[in-house]
Amino acid sequence: MRRLRIEKLRELVRETELSLNDLITPVFVDERISSKVEIPSMPEYYRIPLREVAEEVGKAMEMGLKSFIIFGIPAKKDEIGSSAFGKNDVVQKAVKEIKKAYSDAVIITDVCLCEYTSHGHCGVVRNGKILNDETLPIIAKTAVSHAEAGADIVAPSGMMDGMVSAIRKALDLEGFEEVAIMSYSAKYASNFYGPFREAAESGYSFGDRKSYQMDFHNRREAIREVELDVEEGADIVMVKPALAYLDVIRDVREKFNLPLAAYNVSGEYSMVKAVEKMGWMDSKALAYEILVSIKRAGADMIITYHSYEIAKLISNV
Ligand code: PBG
Repeated sequence: MRRLRIEKLRELVRETELSLNDLITPVFVDERISSKVEIPSMPEYYRIPLREVAEEVGKAMEMGLKSFIIFGIPAKKDEIGSSAFGKNDVVQKAVKEIKKAYSDAVIITDVCLCEYTSHGHCGVVRNGKILNDETLPIIAKTAVSHAEAGADIVAPSGMMDGMVSAIRKALDLEGFEEVAIMSYSAKYASNFYGPFREAAESGYSFGDRKSYQMDFHNRREAIREVELDVEEGADIVMVKPALAYLDVIRDVREKFNLPLAAYNVSGEYSMVKAVEKMGWMDSKALAYEILVSIKRAGADMIITYHSYEIAKLISNV
């Protein structure tokens, strides 16, 4: 076995390659701030004010990053998340600004209500219950408003049943047949989202998300979730989180032929950055190895907060 492990031959026989083409960079746009704010539990990651968002994307593009997923933090929240779908709300404005300056950037928008509702849940709430069908028209409207602003791909992340078909129908009806859907198909109720909820201020005021996000003890159920999204018209499916779910990524890879995204979530990032702070391991090398393992498991693309570091690392090679 060692014959092919000499340095000169190693790249020739390499099975998995990580490229900047595979990476999707999250962008948190905050309507209430006027300069960048670092997220305490996500060192070197920032909430960005609207007026700097295009510039921020431009900097990333210069580093070789091409795709971005936009999350909004609105000035106002209410029961049904009204600031999620207005023409002049935070995500819609951000997408327009970015598109105006960088039309070749791939812009994905996260479609969910949790950043916009006063209770912080991903759907409409009545009597302490998160309602499924009442939520669908609101997410569909949100997706259409993102498409109108210029999004290339909309990414519903709320784990409501039927969300993909509701969005597909609404997009087609409004003339956005070309806008693709990346569905957070197998999204688990995970402890790894903690830092994101701080970043997006999307923590919930009661209960938890276990009535709509998946139970992490389950593996076969992920296949059923993906199957439904494929039937409903998803163009790209996703497994989330990534690192503790490599078995699920592999399962989905083997059973479906759609492009597969994996979300290397906030808690996965924070763990690596915590190690960096402690000086216990080489955190850049660690991040690279983690992302390669997610690709090796079968992901075609990865949403990751490490993309800036990886861009520096790869382009220096
Ligand atoms: C919810 C959403 C979440 C993430 C992306 N979209 C959080 C949640 O479900 O609580 C998590 C991302 C991360 O942890 O990096 N719309």
